[in-house]
Parts: sequence; C-alpha cells; structure tokens
Amino acid sequence: MRRMTAEIPQETILEEQACMQRVRGMAGRPASYFIVTYGCQMNVHDSETLTGMLENMGLSAAADRTCADFVIFNTCCVRDNAERRALGNVTWLKELKKTNPQLRVAVCGCMIQEPGMAEQILRTYPFVDLAFGTHNLYHFPTLFEQMVLKQRRVIEVVPDDLGTVPEDLPIVRSNPYQAYITIMYGCNNFCSYCIVPSVRGRERSRDSERILREAEALYRDGVKEIMLLGQNVNSYGLDRPEGMNFPKLLAAIDEIGIERIRFMTSHPKDLSPELMDVMAGSRHICPQLHLPVQHGNNRILKSMNRRYTREIYLEKVAMLRERIKNISLSTDIIVAYPGETEQEFRDTCSLVEQVRYDSAFTFIYSPRTGTPAAKMPDQVDPETASRRIQELIAIQKRITSENFEHYIGQTHHVLVDAPSRRDIHQMSGKNEYNITVNFDGSPDMIGSILPVRITEARETTLRGTLVQA
Ligand code: SAH
Ligand code: SF4
Ligand code: F3S
Repeated sequence: MRRMTAEIPQETILEEQACMQRVRGMAGRPASYFIVTYGCQMNVHDSETLTGMLENMGLSAAADRTCADFVIFNTCCVRDNAERRALGNVTWLKELKKTNPQLRVAVCGCMIQEPGMAEQILRTYPFVDLAFGTHNLYHFPTLFEQMVLKQRRVIEVVPDDLGTVPEDLPIVRSNPYQAYITIMYGCNNFCSYCIVPSVRGRERSRDSERILREAEALYRDGVKEIMLLGQNVNSYGLDRPEGMNFPKLLAAIDEIGIERIRFMTSHPKDLSPELMDVMAGSRHICPQLHLPVQHGNNRILKSMNRRYTREIYLEKVAMLRERIKNISLSTDIIVAYPGETEQEFRDTCSLVEQVRYDSAFTFIYSPRTGTPAAKMPDQVDPETASRRIQELIAIQKRITSENFEHYIGQTHHVLVDAPSRRDIHQMSGKNEYNITVNFDGSPDMIGSILPVRITEARETTLRGTLVQA
C-alpha cells in the first residue's frame, strides 16, 4: 500500500515564521542576499521560497553576488557537469571572502542529499558556513539564525522525506505574469540512471484544495500563465485519500480562468487517454507537451526501467496528435547509456525522425553513484558518446528548422516577457507552443498576450510582427 502524505505540522511552520521575525530584528545579520540556482524548475521554485524567507527576515536582494553579504547556492546533481559547475562557482567565492570577511556562504539543494556530500563540502570548502538539503528547506530560517547567532558553521541533512510536504511558506515569485505551482514532490520511478528519487524522496502530492486556492490567488493577482510542477505529474494524487487524479486536477484548474496552463514532467508510461481528453477539451491548457522518451530502443528502455516500449510511446504520440491539433512536442534523450550499441543509438535517431519534436534536450549519460546503471559493464567511451550526441543534435536541429518553417505565416499568441537580449526595441516572449518569439515592440507590452504573425524561423526561436487590432 502507498504511504499517505501529511503536511508538516502547523506548529513547526509557525515556529519558522516566528524565527523569521526574530532574525528581522537582529543586529549584525547579513543585510543583502544573492541566490545562484542550478537544475530544474523544482529548484527554481525552491529558490523562490528561499527568496520569500530571506525577504521576510529583512534581507534585500543584491544586484550581483560580488556585493551580497549572503550568497546561497541551490545545487543540482542530476549529471556530473551540473555538480562540477556548482562546486566551481562555490570555489570562486573563496576569493571574495578574503575581501569581504562578513560574507556568509550557504550550499543547499539536491547535491546535499547525496550521502556524505554535505560533510565533504564542509571539509573541502572551509569557507562554506551553512549546508542543508531538500527535505528541510522549510527549516532554513532556524538554520540561518543559528549561523548568525552562534558564529559557527551549521549543517543539517535530513535523509528521508518522512512522507510530508511543507505548506504556508512565503514565496517571492520572480515573474509577476508567470508562476510555478508545485503539485507534488519526489519521484517513485527509479529509472536506472537517475539520482532524483534518492535526493528528492518518494512521491508526495499536495492537497488539491490548497493547489486550487493557490491558483485562484494567482489568477486574482493577474498571473497569465502557470506551470504545474512535479517529477511525474501523471501520478499526482495516488498518495492522497481524496480520489483526485491529475486529469481531474487539471480540469478543475482550467475552470479558474488563468489564460495559460502548462505542466511538467509527464512520464510517458502514465500518460492516459483521460489526460489527453482533458487537454483536448480544455480552454486554457497549452497545446504543448514535454514528453521525455530517453531512448528509442526497447532493450535500453527496459534496462532504464522506463516501463514503456518504443511502440507504446509512438502510439501515445499518435493519440495525442489525433486529439490535440498542432500539439508541439519536446523531449529529453540520453545517449551513450551503458552498453548502447551503434544500432541501438540508431534506434534513437530513427525515433526522433519519426516523432519530429519541436525541440529536444540531449544528454550524454553521466554515471551517478548509487544508481544501478553506474555499476553496469560496458560504459561507452567518451569519444563515441560525443560523436553520437553531435549526430543526434544535428538531426534534431534540422527537424526543428523544418518544423519552424511551417509556423511562418501563422498567428501565434505571445506572452510578452522582456526586451530581447540583443535589442531593447525587440520584445521577447513564449507562444502557446512554448517557443520563444521575438518581435518589434515596447516594454509597456510586457505581461500581455499579443497576436504576432510569424515571419521568420531562427535556429531555436521565431520572429514575427505584431498583428494590429
Ligand atoms: N522527471 C523527469 C526528468 C528529471 S531529470 C522525467 O522523468 O522526465 C531531467 C532529465 O535529465 C531526464 O529526463 C534525463 O534525460 C536526464 N538525466 C537524468 N539522469 C541522467 C544521467 N544520469 N545522465 C544523463 N542524463 C540524465
Ligand atoms: Fe528520474 Fe525517472 Fe524520476 Fe524522471 S521519472 S526523475 S528520470 S527517476
Ligand atoms: Fe537537479 Fe534536483 Fe532538479 S538533481 S534536475 S535540481 S530535482
């Protein structure tokens, strides 16, 4: 039987809130903060919670990390390079601490949940003042207070999620028009290569009433787009007594009136016809889906413990395209999984040719300590891995450009986000398919959804002109 999820007790959260108020009045505490975030949307959203807590404690955002009194690294460990990047940047702060001895440095997030990692970081990086993991994020105010009061290093790692979810923590969202809502934490899938289940714990769904109230509040605040987050949103609700599943939750959120709804990530094995029907019949769910396939060969899919075959995946793609006109698909793919033969790699290439994704995130397999795949024989050599990923990237690049050609002449609806990076007279935003579109405009358009006629396809973005009303 599945364990039922409970909320972290209200008294505990009230204690943290009281602690934030104490820190606010504390003399000599750090006055400004800077957060460096690595990894997926989960981490981005956790950083929004950290921001909420820091602001409640009276700290203000620093313009950059060189002038902050408190720098926090929210880390990712899904692949070796994510880990190395984070540690490289932590090292960089060492120099800064020489010029600013008041500077405090914290490391948190998924990396800290790896066995022995927190101790290793504190040993190797003596200038790190605070370390905590993903399961005790809510406890950050207390840990911060201890660090300031006791003038010593603080480390707290909770190895298990204890079947609980935090609620009522302050969140400062980085964008007033787009918001993340976590609907579930953790993952139960144990794909053979993946470290996420061991650093994020078991699947725990939030109460659907709370999710709906949060979405309604965002709607009232003028948010135009929400992204529902979970490692596998399709298994939402299985650990709760209400009988609410993901399609039903989506349908209820669709009623609220928020203009755009997206969600990620959907595991293909649990993508049900019921969910496809809700997407097809909804007013606000975007015609776009991120559906990580990981590989195109059945032997490898089995070894990865993905629990679907190439044929089942392709069948689901066909069903989606039948029900949702023009749905835009994106994916994640791993190359050079242990034992991958040239022919097996070709199966991934042919699947990509068959599905014709609008975009694909491609990764070279990275062995993660403690996962079954890391112990498998026949790890693929780096040269072969690099050749294969280059080949796959080239195939996807061609398909993206062919797909994008079809968008030329169509009118898309763009949620204007910011001036484009290259030219401030150009506005940039995402269309309904989650593709970046640039067009000539002005900053007063930020936050509106505007019709833009697509005139040009670039490598990963589209260009268009505003359709005058
Ligand atoms: N829950 C999501 C993905 C989370 S991790 C899902 O199941 O789709 C994001 C992506 O990182 C994965 O889809 C996978 O493609 C990639 N990834 C995870 N572990 C990896 C590893 N050890 N090496 C290379 N890529 C990996
Ligand atoms: Fe990792 Fe698989 Fe869970 Fe995704 S579904 S987080 S790839 S174990
Ligand atoms: Fe990375 Fe943790 Fe997300 S390992 S991908 S930040 S869940």
